Amino acid sequence: MNIVHRPEQAFAQLVQWRDAGLRSGLVPTMGALHEGHLSLVRRSRAECDRTVVTIFVNPTQFGPREDFHKYPRTPEDDYQALRELEVDLVFAPSLEQLYPDGFSTFVEPPAAARRLEGEFRPGHFRGVATIVLKLFQILPASVAYFGQKDYQQLTVIRRMVDDLNVPIRVEGCPTVREPDGLALSSRNRYLTSDQRPRARCLWLALQAVKQALENGQRQVQTLETLMRDTLMDNGADRIDYARIVDANSLADLKQVDQAVVALIAVHIGTTRLIDNCFLQV
Ligand code: PAJ
Repeated sequence: MNIVHRPEQAFAQLVQWRDAGLRSGLVPTMGALHEGHLSLVRRSRAECDRTVVTIFVNPTQFGPREDFHKYPRTPEDDYQALRELEVDLVFAPSLEQLYPDGFSTFVEPPAAARRLEGEFRPGHFRGVATIVLKLFQILPASVAYFGQKDYQQLTVIRRMVDDLNVPIRVEGCPTVREPDGLALSSRNRYLTSDQRPRARCLWLALQAVKQALENGQRQVQTLETLMRDTLMDNGADRIDYARIVDANSLADLKQVDQAVVALIAVHIGTTRLIDNCFLQV
């Protein structure tokens, strides 16, 4: 496994593979890798000739009061996990390599970025869209793999790729969960032992809404109230949002009669967790 830090080294390798007729798969991450990340890597390994993983904690997607400085950084463990999966290339640039002095160009993200996470984390998707487009330029792969765990992020990236004619195929991959339903996340390690059982409230709320839908409830307002009540009754300290929206546009709905997604963001202590579930009637 080759580990490179400079964009021009990474670009040269990807171009060499492309010229040799090899299909490469790209898995962008912020490191602190867990089985969720590794599921994307396995998918790329299964579908592509070469796999490149990026590890970069991107400062422009963190708000001023967010956890950029304390975000977990575990490079040696990450490299070991990726070596075991026989990843071909790891791109792990420094801050200065991606944001040199004078950096001032940003991607204006699509409309879907303004709602939900966008309301509670202003500027977040501007940072995500900017870094992801930079990674697509540095690593001209055939396919890029993203998790459905970050459903709105996936929606924003798909739209950006279409709108800006980026020549890469975007694949969404299912959310990997703990046995009790909690979605794997690098931020789960912030949870204390008494907070950890309460983090199950997201899964319980998503299951409750799924069950209600199966029982014939179609009113979005009723379903959203059910989600909020389930969250609060099962240990959420604060809800940022618990919404049901159109699965493609993320637009508001009154009734569920198409493919929808239920999206949740809550705080457990000082830790903010998100989860979602795709639902069809
Ligand atoms: P990060 O949070 O490290 O996640 C990297 C990728 O792993 C994302 O596509 C995310 O959706 C996916 N992922 C995380 N948890 C998952 C789980 N439990 N199951 C399946 N996939 C999961 O998302 C980012 O980094 C950044 O915003 C990034 C796209 C790298 C840009 O900086």
